[in-house]
Amino acid sequence: MSIPITKVVASVSPQGANNIHDRFRIARRRESLTDIRQPRILHPLENEGLRLLVLENISLDAVAAFRAQGYYVDHSTKAMSEDELVEKIGSYQAIGIRSKTKITARVLKAASKLLVIGCFCIGTNQVDLTAAARAGIPVFNSPFSNSRSVAELVMAELIALSRQLFERSYELRTGIWNKQSKGCWEIRGKTLGIVGYGHIGSQLSVLAEAFGLRVLFYDVVNIMPLGSARQVETLASLLAQSDFVTLHVPELPETINMISKEQLCQMKKGAYLINNARGRVVDIPALIEALQSKHLAGAAIDVFPAEPGANGAPFDDQLNSWASILRALPNVILTPHIGGSTEEAQKMIGEEVAQALSRYLGYGSTMGAVNFPEVDLRAIPAEQGGQIRVCHIHKNQPGVLKQVNEALSPYNVEKQYTDSKGEVAYLMADIADVSFKELPQLKERISSTDSNIITRFLA
Ligand SMILES: NC(=O)c1ccc[n+]([C@@H]2O[C@H](COP(=O)([O-])OP(=O)(O)OC[C@H]3O[C@@H](n4cnc5c(N)ncnc54)[C@H](O)[C@@H]3O)[C@@H](O)[C@H]2O)c1
Repeated sequence: MSIPITKVVASVSPQGANNIHDRFRIARRRESLTDIRQPRILHPLENEGLRLLVLENISLDAVAAFRAQGYYVDHSTKAMSEDELVEKIGSYQAIGIRSKTKITARVLKAASKLLVIGCFCIGTNQVDLTAAARAGIPVFNSPFSNSRSVAELVMAELIALSRQLFERSYELRTGIWNKQSKGCWEIRGKTLGIVGYGHIGSQLSVLAEAFGLRVLFYDVVNIMPLGSARQVETLASLLAQSDFVTLHVPELPETINMISKEQLCQMKKGAYLINNARGRVVDIPALIEALQSKHLAGAAIDVFPAEPGANGAPFDDQLNSWASILRALPNVILTPHIGGSTEEAQKMIGEEVAQALSRYLGYGSTMGAVNFPEVDLRAIPAEQGGQIRVCHIHKNQPGVLKQVNEALSPYNVEKQYTDSKGEVAYLMADIADVSFKELPQLKERISSTDSNIITRFLA
């Protein structure tokens, strides 16, 4: 069958966007501006149906969505050991896990057909990301699906701290009636200082203003404030003006202990500190001193430098040497890293990661992959039958594009985009004017280059 030549269009570059969500939005907006036609559903040209192994408590909606797309899904609610995985993984093209299943280099070696890994959670430490990338396997997760949940928890903590809610409740549970208003405040009209105005910080800004708080924020990047929030120039300026300081920065070398003795002294007397970001962002012994001296009126802490590995494990001085002192302080809310732990966030994680896996398997898009160059191409319109999408993962070394483009040169390359990350590079190209009987030879030519890792054709 011969495929008709159509007009050559420019490739879609994801450059210039702040993060993957912005890039998805921009890519979708470009799609809708330039091409309002229905996208064609692509399928791998290999005859074999795609098999997915889905482990742990992954949302059943995600499992149903995979089955609805025609994938063969094996689903177990339990994690698998390394040995079990080594034995089973060889027959699957995709795997979905949460945090208990470890995908080690040994597992990846046995995963001869594996194309993609979906971590249905925030972190990806359970996967050997470098070994996966070297094997041509992108890894997807869902880092921002719980932003709203964290922002809502902060709202609860603001009120709970300023009304000494946990102390009153604890007293009454022990049989003590202690009705008082001294040192208890409304949050209306107070100043909230947000450190880090990203996904969580900016959501929180909107919620806080609805409660009548004045919002200031400090961020290393200049960001357009939402509502009436105002960005301040320095952390010191934010600390000096805020009644509540809440932290929403990532853990980076420069954010470790970014709130220590000096910064705590810069906070207003009677202010409150909230940390739902990362445990090492706050110097906790310094915070304990600030609370003991009554310079701060309270704190809420959801994240700790060392956290127990499982529910039920003790939170004690063996884990963090100051744990018992912190636990005994009044008006300190301690929670076990639950900022993002809601049913809604779990559902959203399921939807987002399932979508990323489907977009990769069906369209080759690696947008949002944590270990891989992020590459995407605009959808092929439904009525444009016969185009082939080439997805070529290869070693990042000189001369590859020359070889691939020589192989593609007899055909019309409708669009093409390539990017690299570390040792791995990824090229996507839509080609027309190729007959199906030529495809095996073309595929063989591209995949037999010495830089080839994985080559797939979608049509
Ligand atoms: N407690 C929980 O369960 C939970 C859940 C989700 C996220 N988190 C944590 O919350 C934090 C924020 O998450 P997010 O999704 O909003 O991240 P994000 O990447 O969207 O935003 C982080 C913001 O911090 C800013 N920033 C980076 N370094 C900074 C510095 N030195 N000073 C000031 N600003 C700086 C960035 O420019 C960015 O705007 C992360 O540490 C994340 O791990 C915790």
